[in-house]
Amino acid sequence: MQRRDFLKAAVGGAALLGLGDTGRAQTLPSDRKFHPGEVWRDTDGKPIQAHGGGILYHAGVFYWYGEDKTQGYNNKVGASCYSSRDLYTWKHEGTALAASAVPKQFQDTGVLERPKVIYNAKTRKFVLWAHLDANGYSESVAGVAISDSPTGPFTLLSHSHPIGTSTYRDMNLFLDTDGSAYSIYSAEDNATIYIVRLNEEFTGPEMPLVEGKTWVRAIPRHWREAPAPFKHKGRYYLFTSGTSGWDPNAAMLASADHILGPWILGDNPCVGPDAEKTFHSQSTFVLPITGRSHGGFLYMGDRWKPQDLADSRYVWLPFEFDANTGFQLTWHETWDLSIFGKPL
Ligand code: GAL
Repeated sequence: MQRRDFLKAAVGGAALLGLGDTGRAQTLPSDRKFHPGEVWRDTDGKPIQAHGGGILYHAGVFYWYGEDKTQGYNNKVGASCYSSRDLYTWKHEGTALAASAVPKQFQDTGVLERPKVIYNAKTRKFVLWAHLDANGYSESVAGVAISDSPTGPFTLLSHSHPIGTSTYRDMNLFLDTDGSAYSIYSAEDNATIYIVRLNEEFTGPEMPLVEGKTWVRAIPRHWREAPAPFKHKGRYYLFTSGTSGWDPNAAMLASADHILGPWILGDNPCVGPDAEKTFHSQSTFVLPITGRSHGGFLYMGDRWKPQDLADSRYVWLPFEFDANTGFQLTWHETWDLSIFGKPL
């Protein structure tokens, strides 16, 4: 049996033992538990490369997209895609948007950061948005790409500033229950969070642009980034970090009755030791958990390792709502989905 096949068999079996890169036996993270901050291997036994990522749930499958930093900081590989049916075990589906598929200035000394994908039911296209940048974050544009398949390959359609010449950096996408979609991002050199409604194809901002109607300066001049939106009981929430590069800082949870605001600034939802550092992570996505009796949300963060970005880790934690305390994020050494109740 090839090493790869052995690892695959191990993932499906009970022993869950594979051979790591060092040749020593290692436990694969297939014990149906999350281990925040530990090395997380895919079904081939390789550390998952999906940093600054997000999840699309489509036809019973979770697709996790993120930055492949195998070759370090710059955009040498592109945006990766992994698939899973249970959120614990991830299969590498390859590169969804290749570095070579974007203009030269966004490869080599440039970056492709925080890719996210939503599905457009009208056009039946998967739509990927990412922050593309040239050396020194000098261009800061939105890269928009589409594909007929969730795993790609995605084709780049455009790279531009959605609003005027304002920078497009840490970003996310949000598909609302009414079918409208939004891009939420750090603009104005990271000083202000913008929320921009997308056109029917989800391939650009809705036109004509009307401030207050099709787009808003949602959180002006508060220097927030790493936006992770979600909706709970008709109310909109936005998890953000502060701006301290790779270093973790205190999170903030803003909320609003309408996606285009007004947005109300909230507190740091993290509680307990290291709450001021978001448990040594930076937000990237909040995934609603459905199909469980309590429901809830899954917080996805990145624990960046600037000296070896490929070895940056993932901090996934349950994010639960309590009528008395509101949303709170607490540290769990290990946990599993039963925290959200029984499968329905
Ligand atoms: C962070 C940002 C990351 C990456 C990093 C580079 O503030 O959230 O996505 O851009 O800076 O220093």
